[in-house]
Amino acid sequence: MTLLVTGGAGFIGANFVLEWLGRSDERVVNLDALTYAGNPENLVALEGDERHIFVHGNIADRALIAGLLAEHQPRAVVNLAAESHVDRSIHGPGDFVRTNIQGTYNLLECALEYWRGLDAAANSGFRFLHVSTDEVYGSLEPDSPPFTEATAYQPNSPYSASKAAADHLVRAWHHTYGMPVLTTNCSNNYGPLQFPEKLIPLVIANALAGEPLPVYGDGMNVRDWLYVSDHCSAIRAVLANGRPGEVYNIGGWNEMPNIDIVNVMCDLLDELRPRAEGPHRELISFVKDRPGHDRRYAIDARKIERELGWRPAETFQTGIRKTVQWYLEHPSWVANVQSGAYRRWVDLNYRQGS
Ligand code: NAD
Ligand code: DAU
Repeated sequence: MTLLVTGGAGFIGANFVLEWLGRSDERVVNLDALTYAGNPENLVALEGDERHIFVHGNIADRALIAGLLAEHQPRAVVNLAAESHVDRSIHGPGDFVRTNIQGTYNLLECALEYWRGLDAAANSGFRFLHVSTDEVYGSLEPDSPPFTEATAYQPNSPYSASKAAADHLVRAWHHTYGMPVLTTNCSNNYGPLQFPEKLIPLVIANALAGEPLPVYGDGMNVRDWLYVSDHCSAIRAVLANGRPGEVYNIGGWNEMPNIDIVNVMCDLLDELRPRAEGPHRELISFVKDRPGHDRRYAIDARKIERELGWRPAETFQTGIRKTVQWYLEHPSWVANVQSGAYRRWVDLNYRQGS
């Protein structure tokens, strides 16, 4: 048995593949374009492991995808490949349209042809699992109920609009062609291997370098935070027992304003890596807001809990401590991803008045 995982050199994808092969001997074909966010170092523990077949390539490459499906005969496709950073989508939406929309469309087309050609048993067992985000639902008022699977889509950023478009295509491939698809919409992940452009790893990296900790706007934007291995366990649960055609929201019941997140991290860093010059909170710097910044996301995860018995294993307190410790123990990982391209991105996104 084989899984085709896309985006498995990125943050969630690498955590998913490492956990998958830590728990089962089922082979993983891992297709990744190795963009700035894809990092072969994330998979170094799998070097020489015959259960892991890494393929450097693009989900928008039709011949490549068709060939991989024909050659490896996977029982499922787990699509994690995406452009994932909201700020980058604001500066340059083109890659988001190409990968998140056209890439997903290409995967669906190839998977449909492959699925139709399978024998009856393989055909009925096949799944196409599409990993999406809570951002497709838009922004909540302070006292609105959390997003359910029935909440209308109202994406606000080029990133979330591209993910929403992909979700609609996935839904249509089930409705029109009967393809056995599953969609997951998850809240903000954090944990080991996250590229330091996202809030939590950026704050850790900057704090360790004694640099300002940039907080957008008034710091009161609210997100729901989930430890990455809880997202991975949810994906496994949906893949194993999710009902084809269904959508599952995944979240940690852990809404927090950004400034509280940053304060918690500063206090943890004070404990684990005290700063001679003073408390880490002194590094917090309120900066120009993100254009179109969604005010609040919150996830109602009762469907996946009720139907699939999934629950997060970590609280924010346990997950954030593990995360900060991981970054403290892996300074060379952080240094290696902070290339010239990373520095240019930081200059572009955080330069005065941008
Ligand atoms: P990431 O940016 O860390 O990794 C994305 C991976 O996809 C990288 O390895 C990159 O090289 C690869 N990739 C990009 N374009 C590709 C292409 N055209 N073909 C093949 N590979 C390509 O992203 P992540 O945070 O790990 O997110 C993974 C998925 O989960 C995305 O679909 C994202 O929308 C979704 N998601 C992320 C979060 C989060 O908080 N990070 C929350 C909910 C959902
Ligand atoms: O909700 C799920 C989404 O979470 C995923 O679909 C995205 O792929 C993922 O990037 C994430 O999106 P966010 O925009 O919420 O994550 P980010 O870490 O970029 O920002 C989290 C919050 O922190 C957000 O309100 C913006 C704010 N922020 C972010 C950065 C990078 C800051 O205040 N300062 C910063 O420097």
